Amino acid sequence: MKTTVCKFDELVSGKAARFVVGERAIAVVRIDDKVYAIGDKCSHADVALSDGEVITDTKEIECVRHASCFSLETGKPNTLPATQPVPVYVATIENGSVVIDVK
Ligand code: FES
Repeated sequence: MKTTVCKFDELVSGKAARFVVGERAIAVVRIDDKVYAIGDKCSHADVALSDGEVITDTKEIECVRHASCFSLETGKPNTLPATQPVPVYVATIENGSVVIDVK
């Protein structure tokens, strides 16, 4: 199911935004002209990844609680203590809007 969550211009490069689609919380991150979408709940504890810092060079987001860094491309944690990935969603820009495919 594809859902439009916002206008691309509303996103700030290097920052995360939280959207709720159905029952899923999704962290949407813009880095320059690209957009990424991952599940907005750390796999280590119930913490919103969208509250964390985006690391643009490595395309990661750092959990605010224990600092695991999750890949925005694969959802995998690249650093401990988290060991499990978070969901990754296909995010596209269509006619200036950010569209997330939540299957
Ligand atoms: S709650 Fe995210 S790393 Fe621990």
